[in-house]
Amino acid sequence: MEARIAVLGGDGIGPEVTAESIRVLDAVAERFEHDFTYVGGRVGGNAIDEFGTALPQDTLNLVLGSDAVLFGAVGGPKWDNPEIDIRPEDGILRLRKNLGLFANIRPCKIYPQLIGTSPIKQDRLEGVDFVIIRELTGGLYFGKPKRKWENSRGRRAVDTLAYTEKEIERVVRVAFELARTRKKILHSLDKMNVMETSRLWREIASELSVEFHDVEVVHMLADNAAMQMITNPSVFDVIVTENTFGDILSDESAVIGGSLGMIPSASLASSPPTDGKKRRRGGKPALYEPIHGSAPDIAGRGIANPIGSILSASMMLRWSFGLHEEADAIETSINNALSDGYRTVDIAGDGGNVMGTSQIGDMIAGRIRM
Ligand code: IPM
Ligand code: MN
Repeated sequence: MEARIAVLGGDGIGPEVTAESIRVLDAVAERFEHDFTYVGGRVGGNAIDEFGTALPQDTLNLVLGSDAVLFGAVGGPKWDNPEIDIRPEDGILRLRKNLGLFANIRPCKIYPQLIGTSPIKQDRLEGVDFVIIRELTGGLYFGKPKRKWENSRGRRAVDTLAYTEKEIERVVRVAFELARTRKKILHSLDKMNVMETSRLWREIASELSVEFHDVEVVHMLADNAAMQMITNPSVFDVIVTENTFGDILSDESAVIGGSLGMIPSASLASSPPTDGKKRRRGGKPALYEPIHGSAPDIAGRGIANPIGSILSASMMLRWSFGLHEEADAIETSINNALSDGYRTVDIAGDGGNVMGTSQIGDMIAGRIRM
């Protein structure tokens, strides 16, 4: 098949890890005889420096003309001044909003090879394999008013947490549909003891559970879930929650597996198509990115773990292009590279053969060609 992939590396380690994904995709194209075309665009801090905006119109046009987006990371200390209005993060936030990508899927699974790198006690890690579905285009991230100002009594700031029925319903529906294909248990997280938006969330999740009567829905307070995720992570299978809770809890979930560098994500405008035929929804592509940030502390040193990005590319093959055998080939080769002892520094807790970003990329791409 032919596919046109927009590649937005962004800042920091973003371009470094994304480059390895492309090498792995090239290996897939070679072995399975596909024709992937990559089109690169600027986003984030480097786009601010050059064009004065985190998401130049050219980048948006290129994204809209592509079949899927492979995204790296944005941000860095250079652009962290809170006094400045234009922020690198606007690049990804505006992309999510523009493409209508309301469902962000973040898997958490333990690689047995890496069990020693997890700070969690081993007996808690058995059977851990869950997915967080984070609402991605609403809540505190986008609610208005959103501003900071000063009056005679001092400085003030406001963010707004607002959700419509439709916004909640569509993302909880995606979660129910995914739960149906897995263990049929859905944890819906909220703070209904405090917030109106959470009470609406819980109401809608309960109403939908009538339609999805084969799925057991467990409503849980998000703070309790944060604790359970560490003390008892194997109780979860599919989790659904609003934007900010999902952001925080997905970083927490990454610790369980041993490294933030290992976790991919898919941002979709519909449920993952089971037939893989719908490559674009409403004419717009889906976006795939590792959940880690631009990691300025290690940027440019060639030591970042590219596996989160490579697994994101695999999710792209599966969910935007319906290429399941190809996605399996990537996942198997990552698994084999780990079994053969190859490690980047973040997952080298128990030794192994520690190598850089492009070396491990080579190991993974090489195992696909074999
Ligand atoms: C993430 C990141 C982003 C978010 C930032 C970079 C805006 O932390 O994808 O989790 O908060 O959504
Ligand atoms: Mn985050």
